[in-house]
Amino acid sequence: MPEGLIVVNGGAPLAGTVSVAGAKNSVLKLMAASLLAPGVTTIRNVPIISDVTLMGEVLENLGAKVAFGNHEVTIDTAPVDSVEAPWELVARMRASIAVLGPLVGRFGRAHVAMPGGCQIGSRKLDMHILGLEALGVAFDISHGFIDASIPQGLKGAPVILDFPSVGATENLMMAAVRACGITTIDNAAREPEIVDLAGYLVQMGARITGAGTPTIEIEGVDELLPVAEHRTIGDRIEAGTFLVAGVLGGGPLTVEGVRPAQLEMALSKLKAMGAELTVAADRITVSHDGALRPTDIQTLPHPGFPTDLQAQFMVLDALADGRSVITENVFENRFMFADEIARMGADIRIEGHFAFIDGVRQLSGAPVRSPDLRGGAALVLAGLVADGQTVVAGIEHIDRGYEHFERKLASCGARIERVPAEKVTKRHV
Ligand code: UD1
Repeated sequence: MPEGLIVVNGGAPLAGTVSVAGAKNSVLKLMAASLLAPGVTTIRNVPIISDVTLMGEVLENLGAKVAFGNHEVTIDTAPVDSVEAPWELVARMRASIAVLGPLVGRFGRAHVAMPGGCQIGSRKLDMHILGLEALGVAFDISHGFIDASIPQGLKGAPVILDFPSVGATENLMMAAVRACGITTIDNAAREPEIVDLAGYLVQMGARITGAGTPTIEIEGVDELLPVAEHRTIGDRIEAGTFLVAGVLGGGPLTVEGVRPAQLEMALSKLKAMGAELTVAADRITVSHDGALRPTDIQTLPHPGFPTDLQAQFMVLDALADGRSVITENVFENRFMFADEIARMGADIRIEGHFAFIDGVRQLSGAPVRSPDLRGGAALVLAGLVADGQTVVAGIEHIDRGYEHFERKLASCGARIERVPAEKVTKRHV
């Protein structure tokens, strides 16, 4: 059975306006957090992407009723009667682990499959486990499952994270809101999605201060109530991806539905590369003409440069006038996409967590395969400016995180189409 493909014919100028969807990484955690209070909640500004559908399945599997509407999801968590997230679901999406904290918070139990090694490095869970243990959670890890219980109740405690892990900060927050007493999370992640989650939890009745700073303080409460309605923040990573498209295609391309302050580091790199930016409250316009300046990038936890935009920016560096160095500090093995773009003529040498990129004048279209979500998006971006046709396989990765990716690009002038699996012919492969 052939798989679906995205086919891009390079060289078309890009201009127009793109509205970004709600942030994937926020919605997934808000959906998990809804488990904390029995009842009905509606989350708005929900992207239509497969990871969100999958989180719906995780919640349904626990007994929740989940109904997707027009960019919204309504979840009734009253009927939840299971604490198990099975391997079949966790294996398909690591973010399923976000149900661990809320299940412990509401039921005092969780039975969650261990996520396997991920394609972007071995993503560990030690900080989730150590942090929750400090709160009184006992773990039995065997037969591929994490079994969590609270033999002596959940108690607030000080926790210092080794690294500002997004997932560990979120799981800890979602358990601590129901603990007895005060929890402080030091060296907490500061991503905007953490702030969105804290806002949602506060709407439920939680007491949280400091979200968005390195120290979050949570005073546990006895009861949480479902949030009638919450609107998710815009997806800063989708926004950053389209801004890169705008630079490649000349622009002016406007990205709306995102707060520029959440993308500060990415915007400063675009400027350093020579792009022109106009910034308003919830929109950013980019345009570019002439050569791109080479620019070094280091990925870091927020407010540093986001690892989720590293591959997209590597496309810009691959076409810049000179050498750039990208240092990946957040995940191991996050350069897999570089092998594919090298097949399109990019000059990239990887040494450990450094990528040395010598810009070339032109990329050449080729058949390529998405190694992961952001790498897949970056290959499509490369195809936009490559000479001739680029055929991107493995597009299920792109569908995990981008809503109507090719349609949004086509609306700005890209010559791009999705060829569904049943229509793939020898001409495409
Ligand atoms: C989240 C995002 C992902 C983003 C990442 C960093 C979701 C669904 N995904 O992933 O898109 O790239 O934040 O911004 O929100 N680590 C440990 N032990 C732990 C936890 C993490 O060693 O217990 C390591 C990981 O292996 C990784 C680094 O810490 O190298 C960062 O991971 P983390 O911030 O937890 O990322 P995720 O929450 O998995």
